[in-house]
Amino acid sequence: MDHLKRGVPNWLLFLFFGALIGGGIKIIFLQGFLKEDPYINYRLKTGALYVSPKLSIIPLRTSEAIQKGEQIYEKVCSSCHGAYGSYKSGLVGPSLSDSQWLHSNSEKKIGRLVLNGIGAGKSITGQLMPARAGASLSDSDVWSAVYFLSSQNSSIQKDSTSKK
Ligand code: HEC
Repeated sequence: MDHLKRGVPNWLLFLFFGALIGGGIKIIFLQGFLKEDPYINYRLKTGALYVSPKLSIIPLRTSEAIQKGEQIYEKVCSSCHGAYGSYKSGLVGPSLSDSQWLHSNSEKKIGRLVLNGIGAGKSITGQLMPARAGASLSDSDVWSAVYFLSSQNSSIQKDSTSKK
């Protein structure tokens, strides 16, 4: 050990570990606390609040939920995903009425995706989707929209734990 130590002066060790620790602190601050809000422009434009992307209550699949989901789709989702059924592309988001899925065709995963949003790290097209569509939808609103989609689109795998 002694002969190794002799070759490395203390100031160099200090610099090396200092850089490591400094780099760590920088990563924590930049990626963590001071993370830039990727939806800031969208939120400023629409006045939408950021809502914590926590998963909780999943409502039953009732015809009321599906109807409510259709209204939510037309009011909120269609601004990016187009009018249901006729939209192919041209707006921000992909069509949700075809059988092509960038992320998942599972009802549960779709619900989680809408609750959490699609940030820069997860986006496939480079376009982002704000959590809860940037519209402070409740959990049950989000799941209603998902039930509406799966009631129309047979390529979506229905979650077996939900009632028919
Ligand atoms: C501000 C625009 C915007 C709004 C509003 C929006 N989305 Fe999105 N959505 C996107 C974008 C952009 C993507 C694609 C992200 C990517 O490239 O990965 C996406 C992707 C998705 C996907 C994944 C599609 C796939 O092929 O896997 C689903 C499902 C989805 N959105 C559902 C919804 C629902 C339901 C709503 C309404 C409650 C909604 N979105 C509202 C922009 C939006």
